[in-house]
Amino acid sequence: MNILVIGSGGREHALCYALKKSPQCKALYCIPGNAGIAEVAKCENIRITDFDSIVEFCRENLVNFVIVGPEAPLVEGITDFLEDRGIKVFGPSKAAARLEASKIFTKQICEKANIPTAKSRSFTNAAEAKEYIKELGAPIVIKADGLAAGKGVVVAENLEQALEAVDDILVEKNFGDAGNEILVEEFMQGRELSFFIATNGDKVFEFGTACDYKRAYDGNLGLNTGGMGTFSPADMVDEALRIEIMDKIINPTLKTMKEMGCPYKGFLFAGLMLTDEGAKLIEYNCRMGDPETQSILPRLENDIVEILLGHQKPQLSKETALCVVMAAEGYPKSYVKNTEIKGLEAVEDAIIFHAGTAKREGKLVNTGGRVLGIVAVAETLATAKEKAYAAVSKINWPQGFYRKDIGEIYD
Ligand code: AMP
Ligand code: GLY
Repeated sequence: MNILVIGSGGREHALCYALKKSPQCKALYCIPGNAGIAEVAKCENIRITDFDSIVEFCRENLVNFVIVGPEAPLVEGITDFLEDRGIKVFGPSKAAARLEASKIFTKQICEKANIPTAKSRSFTNAAEAKEYIKELGAPIVIKADGLAAGKGVVVAENLEQALEAVDDILVEKNFGDAGNEILVEEFMQGRELSFFIATNGDKVFEFGTACDYKRAYDGNLGLNTGGMGTFSPADMVDEALRIEIMDKIINPTLKTMKEMGCPYKGFLFAGLMLTDEGAKLIEYNCRMGDPETQSILPRLENDIVEILLGHQKPQLSKETALCVVMAAEGYPKSYVKNTEIKGLEAVEDAIIFHAGTAKREGKLVNTGGRVLGIVAVAETLATAKEKAYAAVSKINWPQGFYRKDIGEIYD
């Protein structure tokens, strides 16, 4: 099979790393890729939403399977576009990707299928939203309906913040059309869990769990980021919880999507809150997580292609994998670019996944905010942590930073 991965982050590097091991993978391509991915796949610099050029690339290179990493092309309909032209894709259709593209759509599914989630109401009118917020009181959560690059969610600790968020999204239109409608949602207390499945539309396979560290700095301080580190499996998941999540959340979602005429296929990522009343859905993403994928795939013991085709369930080792993200100073706000990163060759006993990197005149430089994911696999969480940080200490990048507490459990 000639396989193409779409995307340029650490998640896509991890996908390429797993695909490369498959005996079925004849040629591996990535659009656009990064400096690390270029070591395992042939990279081509095409915009990931330029579907015509992607089809042309697939035809020229006889690509017969495409795996899409990020949400943007999925939400814009890359799966439909390629499949209409005879190219097989692992990813949801545009209609099914609404699970990530519209938080209100997801709430409707939850209501139809009686899926546990935070109570909420949607609004297009700011005054009505504010009235409802005052009724409910803080803490309270305000969300833009659409895709807002991970920034459209405000967990307001007091009324003032909540009312300001309504103005930012609905009145000032700081998130453009993504904020034409908002959700006002009950605040849920608990630990968060990233839960994954892979489905070819017929077979549904659980595809691992992870804990993500979203804040920029140690102790869960600082701004929200795409994720500064993860470990997998999540420590709090046992058999009973897995069954509860599949029975009460995942399977009813997939059943309802099918009934509505938009069956789901691809990776599905449930962001869950483990509350006193059980697991509740925070949100869905129509893709794998980043950096969750970087700590799940190194545990994979069988052929990822067989899984995506629906032939085999994922077999994940009992070990723990821990990923520490190295980011550029300033991230998630504006950050330095084109600074040199050295010392990668000194890393032993860990996997280095690249995210925002490029090679310039033989030097490795950063092009993005999140730059490297250093992953170690070990019998216990504590040893995985030790090994990952030993590897991180070998990297020489004065303009980078990383959290020192990935693997620490916060309640
Ligand atoms: P989302 O983009 O929906 O995942 O939201 C971003 C983050 O906001 C989540 O990872 C949670 O930490 C937090 N969050 C979202 N909704 C809620 C909620 N209803 N209660 C508490 N925290 C929430
Ligand atoms: N790490 C969270 C995400 O991929 O959205």
